[in-house]
Amino acid sequence: MLSRFDFPEGFVFGAATAAYQIEGSAFGGCGPCHWDSFAATPGNVVRAEDGARACDHYHRWPEDLDLLKRANMDGYRFSTSWARVMPDGRTVNPEGMAFYDRLVDGMLERGLKPFQTLYHWEMPSALADQGGWTNRDTCLRFADFAQAVTERLGDRVAAIATINEPWCVAWLSHFMGVHAPGLRDIRAAARAMHHILLAHGLAVERMRGMGQGNLGIVLNFDHANAASDDPRDVAAADRWDGIFNRWFIEAITKRSYPAAVLEGLAPHMPAKWQDDMAVIGQKLDWLGVNYYTRHIQKHVEGPWPNIGDVAGDLPKTQMGWEIYPDGLHHFLTRLARDYVGDLPIYVTENGMANADELAGGAVTDTVREDYLFAHLAATKRAISDGANVKGFFYWSLLDNYEWAEGYEKRFGLVHVDFDSLARVPKSSYHALARALARND
Ligand code: NOJ
Repeated sequence: MLSRFDFPEGFVFGAATAAYQIEGSAFGGCGPCHWDSFAATPGNVVRAEDGARACDHYHRWPEDLDLLKRANMDGYRFSTSWARVMPDGRTVNPEGMAFYDRLVDGMLERGLKPFQTLYHWEMPSALADQGGWTNRDTCLRFADFAQAVTERLGDRVAAIATINEPWCVAWLSHFMGVHAPGLRDIRAAARAMHHILLAHGLAVERMRGMGQGNLGIVLNFDHANAASDDPRDVAAADRWDGIFNRWFIEAITKRSYPAAVLEGLAPHMPAKWQDDMAVIGQKLDWLGVNYYTRHIQKHVEGPWPNIGDVAGDLPKTQMGWEIYPDGLHHFLTRLARDYVGDLPIYVTENGMANADELAGGAVTDTVREDYLFAHLAATKRAISDGANVKGFFYWSLLDNYEWAEGYEKRFGLVHVDFDSLARVPKSSYHALARALARND
């Protein structure tokens, strides 16, 4: 069994969460966001559940930070909700800011390094109503938000990520319609694909100007396999890899977009998008990698992008996602080789949903233990193969609001009863705590 001593000195082990998924947006003067209205629209979210109460982390955060500490973790990846900090998208809510101030101090008191994410999907409704990420002005508002939060917390956080998973923010939400705002519109998608990167660039520029260091972004990568050797399937898998895996990292590291994707998006891009590439492609201090699964793609007839998902035959999680740890090794080494060189990389999310059940006051989730240790082993192999990986955050500390899937899909190391809100560490939590013990 792997332990922290199998990783380089200073490697950061932690767990991740996000504001809307755990805090409870009904508390503390938080403003409405586009997930509230998306969830309130029939058909979008399982049982139309929303994040109004979630895990009530807004009140129970000391207990949750204690859980991280007791698992011998070094860091905690959390997010600062835009709608909580700025309920109308523009004006600071002192109560919201004070919450994050307490939370960061609570981490430091427990010896946990705060890894902050600025945008984990709570677009304030006031801005969503003006077009959200399809509107260029939102990028400027985001830079203002980044500045306000950094003025307050920047002296104490270990690292700041601008955006979490731009593919989900742009493609999944504006082309596939699965996440808020639920659009299925290629023109809106093209704009969101570009504006989310512009927002990142403007925020980095603003925070750098304030002297803030350790700035990064969290990208998600899913492995792409072609369904067959048929050149049309191979091309479909490559297009899918372009949209999912190359669009964002190429913009940031090479200041260009992949040709295979521009083929479909170019007619819909905002005017003069080329002029934004310099601000998008600024130097970063680190890259965050979220990795969960692989996809098998085939060519389908119809409008661009002509890609369709084929079910794979590997064991699957409760989400129906195939378990494929080699994909994590693939991306860590590929990113180092093709895009970021020696830049520090953090695995900012990796984890699995499982239909966990409480029995006699305990949860036995050995399947999650296997998943976690197989992905830690893949990370270790990538380090041996030259990738400069500096940390690993399990998704998630707690069972929480899994977006369009509601509360049914459980990703946590800690079980949450969504009636009583009681937290019960699962066997995976205890296994990780043992692996992370320092023996002192
Ligand atoms: C990606 C997202 O960042 C997070 O919010 C989500 O819950 C997990 N992956 C699992 O789907």
